[in-house]
Amino acid sequence: MPDALFSDPRLAALYDVFDSDRGDLPAYLAIVESLRPERIIDVGCGTGTFAALLAERGYTVVGADPAGASLDVARGKSAAVTWVHAGADELPEVGADLALMTGNVAQVFVTDEEWAGALRGIRGALRDGGHLVFEARRPEFRGWEEWAHEPIFDEESGVERRFTLGAVDLPLVSFRYEYHFDADGATLTSESTLRFRSREEIEESLRTAGFEVLEVRDAPDRPGRENVFIATTLP
Ligand SMILES: C[S@@+](CC[C@H](N)C(=O)[O-])C[C@H]1O[C@@H](n2cnc3c(N)ncnc32)[C@H](O)[C@@H]1O
Repeated sequence: MPDALFSDPRLAALYDVFDSDRGDLPAYLAIVESLRPERIIDVGCGTGTFAALLAERGYTVVGADPAGASLDVARGKSAAVTWVHAGADELPEVGADLALMTGNVAQVFVTDEEWAGALRGIRGALRDGGHLVFEARRPEFRGWEEWAHEPIFDEESGVERRFTLGAVDLPLVSFRYEYHFDADGATLTSESTLRFRSREEIEESLRTAGFEVLEVRDAPDRPGRENVFIATTLP
């Protein structure tokens, strides 16, 4: 079950408001262009910003996410994308040339079983020789130590978002967002837990799932903080 942040209709509608900085996407676009795929599956596409952008560029795109409310937002961005209500472990076998997970989707899979199931699902959605590209935060950077921030108020929606760091019980880090809606005084809460896996752990899990790791690079917009994995399926 995805976090309320993605699955509650009032909160999903705010994702692009509070996470509007998409400085991460140009580097992904460059990777996509270098791999020259025709058919792309965006796994955990959320509100669909990148899937819609790729479809605009002429790629055939499937955007998949288990959060129906986020997909509803995504549908409003593009009619050219095939939107699929599915988690990574239940993807359709679309024979994609490339699967993507942007926005640290890879960290929502908290248990080893969930992560293995996600990689199995992605493998099944790719053609032989297809690519998988995704990012995961580097645990050694300890990014959660700088996550705390003052509440943010968005004037247009009249919503204040408040962040609280929860348990840091490595490799798991938990946090909570509270959203206060001026319009009706409602406060909605979303609880999240992310898993921080080491580069070696991820590489090993990819090999076990039938992928060859071609490259692990930095995310140019977040130097030192992320590992970006580029893998290909083994026959
Ligand atoms: C931080 S958002 C990133 C969304 C999008 N990729 C982006 O870059 O804007 C994480 C996404 O992972 C999705 N998610 C949660 N559980 C998932 C699962 N089991 N399989 C695939 N995606 C999942 C959430 O619904 C959410 O849309």
